[in-house]
Amino acid sequence: MRETVWLAESGRLEALSVEHYVDRDSLFAAALNSDLAQGYESEEALGRDLLAGEFLFKAPLLLGGQAAKAGMSCHSCHVNGTDNPHFLFPAISGEPGTADTTHSFFSKSLGNKVFDPATIPDLTKAGKVSHSMESAELEAFLTTIVVGEFSGEAISPSVIAPMAAYVRALRVWGGNQKELSRARSLDKDLKDLRATIDQAIHRASIEESDVAALLLSSGQSQVQVIHERLQRVSHEDLRRWLVARSREMGVLRQRLSAQETGVRRDLVALRERLSSGPDFTHASENSLYNANVLADTLK
Ligand code: HEC
Repeated sequence: MRETVWLAESGRLEALSVEHYVDRDSLFAAALNSDLAQGYESEEALGRDLLAGEFLFKAPLLLGGQAAKAGMSCHSCHVNGTDNPHFLFPAISGEPGTADTTHSFFSKSLGNKVFDPATIPDLTKAGKVSHSMESAELEAFLTTIVVGEFSGEAISPSVIAPMAAYVRALRVWGGNQKELSRARSLDKDLKDLRATIDQAIHRASIEESDVAALLLSSGQSQVQVIHERLQRVSHEDLRRWLVARSREMGVLRQRLSAQETGVRRDLVALRERLSSGPDFTHASENSLYNANVLADTLK
């Protein structure tokens, strides 16, 4: 499994079977009651940005260099916007849970040639970067770490805005609330995949094709997470179906990057295929989503 590459052996089973997360409804409620809401014309617009921001966190294409090639995304270190005490990557980490983000592994321009790993911060907690809307320090920070390798173009503010909204909301939500923990679940992963494509369709309709394309890269990465957990011969048909959807996302992503028209219609068709796909109901028991099967396989 791809994630094992950046997980410490000691925390592997835990990290692959349970995850910290922030409840979406309570994140939305917190954002709605904060200054963040003032920048939005409607509650729906705020809700859409929070979802897009969350799914963009899972897009490997946002990171440059080798990190993107390894399939690493913001989510690899900031699991669902939190931290990752089990993150361990050779040459990048010191202790588990730390990373040197100014390593040339992430980007040639950010590399400072010094090995200085820092603890991966939980973004729901207070941190170093100011979230002031006036100073836009957060936008500047995100623009620096997000490497626009995307068709060689600089990353656009329309990509940064939903990520900044999500990061601000996490801190607003933070305070004294407690993160929740849940078992990794096939059902949840499939739901998130469909929700990601819904957001891509929205971005394609408002001519933010760069955001839509990144959301598809997030979708492809999510498909891989599902695909690699379905390992049995009996899962062969499901795997084939997933591979076909991922290829479709790859093609649509390229068409969006090429600013082609008419992509929205094909995104809607993809979304329909995701709803009317094969029956995944019993696939989970017999897969690496099942903690017992996972533990045996890791052994
Ligand atoms: C390899 C692990 C890793 C990845 C991948 C990563 N981060 Fe981080 N992030 C860190 C570490 C470590 C720090 C703390 C850096 C420091 O304190 O110097 C940090 C700091 C931050 C902060 C500042 C928190 C504060 O103190 O206010 C934000 C926001 C953030 N990351 C967002 C992101 C986003 C968005 C992405 C994806 C584009 C991302 N990170 C990818 C490890 C990572």
